[in-house]
Amino acid sequence: MNSFKAKYGPWALITGASRGIGAEFARQCAERGLNVICIATNESLLKQQKEYIEKTYGIEAITVTLDLAREDILKVLRPITRNLEVGLLICNAGISSVRPFLDQDEDELLRQFYVNARAALLLARHYGQLMAQRTRGGIIMLSSASAMNGTAYAANYAGTKAYNLILGESLWYELKDHGVDVLGFMPGCTKTPGFEMHNPKPGTFVPVMGVERTVAEALKSLGKHPSRIAGSMNRLAYGVMGRLFSRRRAINTVSRSMKKIFNPFL
Ligand SMILES: NC(=O)c1ccc[n+]([C@@H]2O[C@H](COP(=O)([O-])OP(=O)(O)OC[C@H]3O[C@@H](n4cnc5c(N)ncnc54)[C@H](OP(=O)(O)O)[C@@H]3O)[C@@H](O)[C@H]2O)c1
Repeated sequence: MNSFKAKYGPWALITGASRGIGAEFARQCAERGLNVICIATNESLLKQQKEYIEKTYGIEAITVTLDLAREDILKVLRPITRNLEVGLLICNAGISSVRPFLDQDEDELLRQFYVNARAALLLARHYGQLMAQRTRGGIIMLSSASAMNGTAYAANYAGTKAYNLILGESLWYELKDHGVDVLGFMPGCTKTPGFEMHNPKPGTFVPVMGVERTVAEALKSLGKHPSRIAGSMNRLAYGVMGRLFSRRRAINTVSRSMKKIFNPFL
C-alpha cells in the first residue's frame, strides 16, 4: 500500500468516477492513501462519492463536473490541477453502445469517439509530460476485451477501445525510460450501470466480474504488464482465440455472442 502511494501518489485523477468501474478506482486509490480528483458529468453522484471517500478513508477528494466530449477539456483541468501532483491518471470514462452501426447517428458516434479516445489522448499527453518531468507516475488506459478483434454491433466502441489499448501499450514502452508505468487494461463483462443498461440476457455463458476484482487486478498489473485482460477465464478464452482462431473466425465468434447476449437490441 505504502509503496503504491510512494510510486503513484499523492493525487490520482480518475475520469468517469461517478459510478461503475471508475467509482471503484477512486475508492481503491483512496484506500491506498491517494487523494483523488473525480471527473464526470453527474454532479450529485460525484458529490456522494466525495463525501463517502473522504469520510471513509480520510483523504482529500476533489470533484470536477466536466463533459469530456468538450473541445476544451485541458483548458478546464489545467488550472484545477496546476498545484496538485497527479501521480496516477486513470482514463476510465467511456460511452458504450450495442447497436447496429448504421442505426447510430453521427453526433452519437462522434461523442463516443471524443470521450473514449480523444479525451484519453489529451489527458495522457498532458499529465504524462508532467510525470516524465518528475520521473515518476502511472497511467491506466481503460480498454476492453472488445479491442482484441472486430466486434459487430459495437463497431465504433470497439474501435475506440482498440485505440486505448494500442496507445497504452505504445506508451508503456516509450515512457518507461521516464519512470512512468503505463497499462492498457481490458475488462471483460463487468457488472456496472453501463453494462446493465444494455440488458444482457441472463444465463448466457459469459463470466461477469464485479468491479472490486476488476479494479484490484488493474492496480496490481500497473508496472508489471504493458496490457492485461481482467479475469483468468477471459485471459484463457482470448488467449486460445488469439492463438488458434483466424481473425475471421474470432470476429464471427465474438459477433455471434454479441447477438446472443444483447439479443433484444439487435
Ligand atoms: N462494464 C463492462 O462490462 C466493461 C467492459 C469493458 C470495458 N469497460 C470500460 O470500462 C470503463 C468504465 O465502464 P463502466 O461499465 O464502469 O461504465 P459506466 O457504468 O457507464 O460508467 C461510465 C463513467 O463514465 C462517465 N462518463 C460518460 N460520459 C462522460 C462524459 N461525456 N464526460 C465525463 N464523464 C463521462 C460516467 O459519468 P457521468 O454519467 O456522470 O458523466 C461514468 O462515471 C469504460 O471505459 C468502458 O469502456 C467496461
